[in-house]
Amino acid sequence: MNKQASINRKTVKKSMKNNSMMIIFSGNKLKSSADGEYPFVVNRNFYHLTQINEPNLVLTMTKNSEVLFIEESDELFEKWIGKKISKQESFKKSNIEDVRYLADFKEEFFNNYENIYLDLEKDQFNNYPTPALKFKEDFKLHVLDAYPIITKSRATKSLTEVEKISEALIITDEGLKNIMRSLKANKKESYFEAHFDFVLKSKNVIPAFDTIAASGANATTLHYVTNDNIAKDGDLILFDLGATSDLYCADISRTYPVNGKFTKRQKELYKMVLDANEMVIDAIKPGITMKELNDIVIKLYEKELLRLKVIKNVEEVKNYYYHGVSHSLGLDTHDVGLDRSQPLIKGNVITVEPGIYIKEENIGIRIEDNILVTKEGSLNLSKHIIKSIEDIEEFMSDVKEK
Ligand code: GLY
Ligand code: MN
Ligand code: MN
Repeated sequence: MNKQASINRKTVKKSMKNNSMMIIFSGNKLKSSADGEYPFVVNRNFYHLTQINEPNLVLTMTKNSEVLFIEESDELFEKWIGKKISKQESFKKSNIEDVRYLADFKEEFFNNYENIYLDLEKDQFNNYPTPALKFKEDFKLHVLDAYPIITKSRATKSLTEVEKISEALIITDEGLKNIMRSLKANKKESYFEAHFDFVLKSKNVIPAFDTIAASGANATTLHYVTNDNIAKDGDLILFDLGATSDLYCADISRTYPVNGKFTKRQKELYKMVLDANEMVIDAIKPGITMKELNDIVIKLYEKELLRLKVIKNVEEVKNYYYHGVSHSLGLDTHDVGLDRSQPLIKGNVITVEPGIYIKEENIGIRIEDNILVTKEGSLNLSKHIIKSIEDIEEFMSDVKEK
């Protein structure tokens, strides 16, 4: 991946003004309680530019230079926690030749530049003070926001980045198959979630986000993550989950019958959502917007929900489908740099995730795939993850755990 980070830095440098320095922090570990810490979450903009997932590092770039500052090794730290990243490892991952220790990151290194670019992503939120915001306070320099420049670069994925998402999707598929093998009535939703987690943990990868395992009417709550209800015979169960590969995310939803067989009514509604999913995928090509893709779903639902007697007039669609059909996908699950009314371009990766949520019928269905926008149209990166009624029923009848 070291070439990848160089390519990304080159793209970002092109948008920088002369006589400016960009300073991007990898982030700190945050204290949780007593001597506990939250799991470290690297600043994704830093990762985009370095491919290094370590706390306390600083990247600096000007139009024609780049320096990475790392921590010096520490014997006591090594005895308790482990080794810190070395200069050689840093170079191998990032392809930055000039790696120095943090002691050299001094005011005289950056205070002569006309502008300092900082990642001000969290400036607008009532959030923890990031190293960038602290830096902005500590040194009264002329600051510009690096965030829009880096996120623009993140929205277009290179081949290597697409491969990473594809690797995450292979693990996600394996996890979903393990779930399908485990499905049975009268188990907690978290029991099935554990079958997904087992596959990820075995490969030492982290999930892209909290898994949703929502049976029956729980699936009508979009971000239901408690997963603490019992899945009942005859209900559907909606899974929305994803693995990662080097922090690149997969984001897949699949909906299965708990007992392995869809009822007639479940089939009717499932078929409608699957049609929407396939129609949207077929429509993806450069130039179209995510808003236009969502309009395809609404148009289909206006017709189908009337026919299936879920609604009496088309204004009611919004009561049963209440999110957008697509978002960008990458180092963040809801990735940055692409908005709903922006025409898609080659290299964007987006989700396609129509759903239908009918509380009074105890049903929530969502079918989500991950799609690469290509020069001519699109490529479904999650094509191998089964989703037709026939394939799901067949898989479940073959492999069900007794
Ligand atoms: N997992 C959240 C989403 O599908 O957008
Ligand atoms: Mn999802
Ligand atoms: Mn999604």
